[in-house]
Amino acid sequence: MPPMEQGSAMTAEEAPSTPVFDTLHVEIEDGVAVLTLDRPDKLNALSAEALEELHAVLDILEEDPDVGGLIVTGAGKAFVAGADIEWMSEIDPLTAADFSRMGQAAFFKLEESRMPVIAAVNGYCLGGGCELAMACDFILASEKAVFGQPEAKLGLVPGFMGSQRLPRLVGTARAKELLLSGRTVDAQEALRIGLAVEVVAPDALLERAKEKMKEILGNGPIALETVKRLVNQGYELDKRTAGSMEAESFGLLFSTDDHAEGIAAFLDKRKAEFTGE
Ligand code: COA
Repeated sequence: MPPMEQGSAMTAEEAPSTPVFDTLHVEIEDGVAVLTLDRPDKLNALSAEALEELHAVLDILEEDPDVGGLIVTGAGKAFVAGADIEWMSEIDPLTAADFSRMGQAAFFKLEESRMPVIAAVNGYCLGGGCELAMACDFILASEKAVFGQPEAKLGLVPGFMGSQRLPRLVGTARAKELLLSGRTVDAQEALRIGLAVEVVAPDALLERAKEKMKEILGNGPIALETVKRLVNQGYELDKRTAGSMEAESFGLLFSTDDHAEGIAAFLDKRKAEFTGE
């Protein structure tokens, strides 16, 4: 697939050679892609089609050398109000299991992306939406954000790793309290329990996410990719094995030009110019 054009949305008119999506759109500016889940009449609920499109667009962005960071957000009053309940009302158990695996795989793509990924949570962030946000590297929440894993209210459990990522973020007791009750959490509570890292005025959310991404992308690209992998993989390992991984990565980074540049820039009291090599 061709790289996406900088500063352009993926629409048929502007970029005829790139795919057109029904449930989302992407805009790229200054090396940062903003992926907007865009089915506001259904509060951006995730159907199988939406997940397929998410897979496809993440593959394209991952391969695009001009994209260094990704911000995920939602159109309208929701980030994502969950898996598509209407669609789920008609599926059998095997289709449901496939749907779950498909969502999990899409969200692993976010978690394991080479890029930093910020969730800019603008509103309802429920069920699959909360699972999507938790698969991002961290969450910036609008004051209007509402989080929750309400699956138990539907006689269900999360299907896109909510039962696993939520306890890792907020601890097992708080996660179980939220999963068992299905209650919602406002932005301030999300901040307090460690689900969100910052709460922002609704109008400032996207700008704040871009500003945060710019701050991150000013650092060494290899270091960013490496530290993300160390956190994600190390968290699943025993401390000493994770420590070995860290020591090896630490050593490996000393073979990069970026490390030499970073240290030289500090000693010269100037801003580092990283090349990703
Ligand atoms: N799946 C499918 N459609 C959904 C949806 C979902 N998860 N969440 C919202 N929608 C649809 C509604 O059915 C409605 O469609 P309609 O206009 O064709 O009737 C539209 O989005 C707007 O939602 P509505 O409920 O009218 O908005 P609201 O502001 O009154 O309530 C919520 C917002 C988020 C509280 C409510 O939509 C809700 O509880 N959604 C389900 C949340 C959930 O349980 N998610 C987990 C799924 S596993």
